[in-house]
Amino acid sequence: MGTDRSFQRPKGTRDFLPDAMAVRRHIECAWRDAAIRHGFEEIDGPTFEHLDLYTVKSGDGIVSELFSFQRSGGDVDYALRPEFTPTLARMAAAQGRSLATPTKWFAIPDLFRAERPQRGRLREHRQWNVDCLGLPGHDGDAEVIAVAVTALRQLGLTSSDVRVRINHRGTAAALLSALGVPATAMDAAFTLVDKRAKMPSEAFAKEAASLGLDAAAVERLDAMASCRLPGEQSPVKLATDNGLPEEALEALAGLSEALERRGLLSWCDWDPGIVRGLAYYTGTVWEIHDLAGAERAVAGGGRYDKLVSLFGGPEVPACGFGMGDVVLGLLLEDKGLLDESVTGGPRPDVFIASSGSDEAEDRLIPLATALRDSGLHVRHTHKATRNIGKQLREASGCRARFVLILGDELSQGQVVLKDLDGGTQQELPLADVHIVLRRTGG
Ligand code: HAM
Repeated sequence: MGTDRSFQRPKGTRDFLPDAMAVRRHIECAWRDAAIRHGFEEIDGPTFEHLDLYTVKSGDGIVSELFSFQRSGGDVDYALRPEFTPTLARMAAAQGRSLATPTKWFAIPDLFRAERPQRGRLREHRQWNVDCLGLPGHDGDAEVIAVAVTALRQLGLTSSDVRVRINHRGTAAALLSALGVPATAMDAAFTLVDKRAKMPSEAFAKEAASLGLDAAAVERLDAMASCRLPGEQSPVKLATDNGLPEEALEALAGLSEALERRGLLSWCDWDPGIVRGLAYYTGTVWEIHDLAGAERAVAGGGRYDKLVSLFGGPEVPACGFGMGDVVLGLLLEDKGLLDESVTGGPRPDVFIASSGSDEAEDRLIPLATALRDSGLHVRHTHKATRNIGKQLREASGCRARFVLILGDELSQGQVVLKDLDGGTQQELPLADVHIVLRRTGG
């Protein structure tokens, strides 16, 4: 029985047609490759968890965006995972004392947040997570920042396109308390500063007043949040320039050295406006933004030294980040880095064209099968036409590297191999096709 209902996909979700899927694979390939090159191992966990895994320490922002549910007839509360860090901390805690030092893990989960869908924000996204447990000090922070930069570089972005904006929760607390925020209101102040860019000034000033900031302090906070300093300069200069206690920025001085050793300072800025919305961060916090700040953050992360022990595991220093595919995709598109070589997906090694003779038709499918069995990506037309010109057009339309023509020469056991990139062609024995295609990198 038919139905006259038509279905739309749920708000804030995506369908991946082949070109969008090719972009997704391209991004994921760069992510996986960068993480593996830096010695991280891939993990994953369940798509849904017990609800309270998120209510313990992720912060109100994420909790208010949960997709939570009970199974029909059940009474246990679950939630679709809105982020991966609690799952990772739970998995690490379960290892107990056998957790390797350091533990370097990465994952590429699908995440679900009931946000109001808008540019750069969806209800389902993929997020690359790279986390390092067991490395104290600044080496862990610099290590994960290096992985993020490797991937961005591989995707074609430069330090003129994106910036790693770094701060420290201790620094932020010192600055906020110098402005008059009491210790008891610090978490709320972090949340407010994190939302600053998305709020009208009056609303920000009103909420800031309720945390103990007067009009002059709000003004100073705003000024500080916009006084970014290039990574090559000492973060302590930021304190001097703004008449702040130097100790406030000393925590970043060690990180500066660790970043310098990895040649990363030219990608970084010291930015007192970065505090991050999630409640579990304990030290360094950072985000990656496009240079103009036109999009939302491409990535965000930081140090969360207390989370694994909060979940019943050993005390381990931990840091990491999440990079989402939505903002990154927008950025790559804006920069012209998603041309047909990406959206077209994998190129066929060879397209087999048939003249339509009985012999060519007999050879076509067995030859395609044998070449595929040898590992090549092989296509041929599914149309009725055997016009060679039309088949050649179809071959270049799908970006095949070579066309193999089963033509009149077949009666002498010969075929024509046309190199669509180089424009050359050669006649060769059918039996040699495998060898030649493999030798040419097909
Ligand atoms: P987050 O800042 O919530 O951090 O997310 C990281 C990145 O994921 C964001 O910068 C953004 O690119 C992307 N993202 C987040 N929400 C959405 C959404 N609704 N739609 C599209 N993209 C989104 C975390 O999730 C931390 N757990 C990251 C982390 C790992 N910290 C330490 N380790």
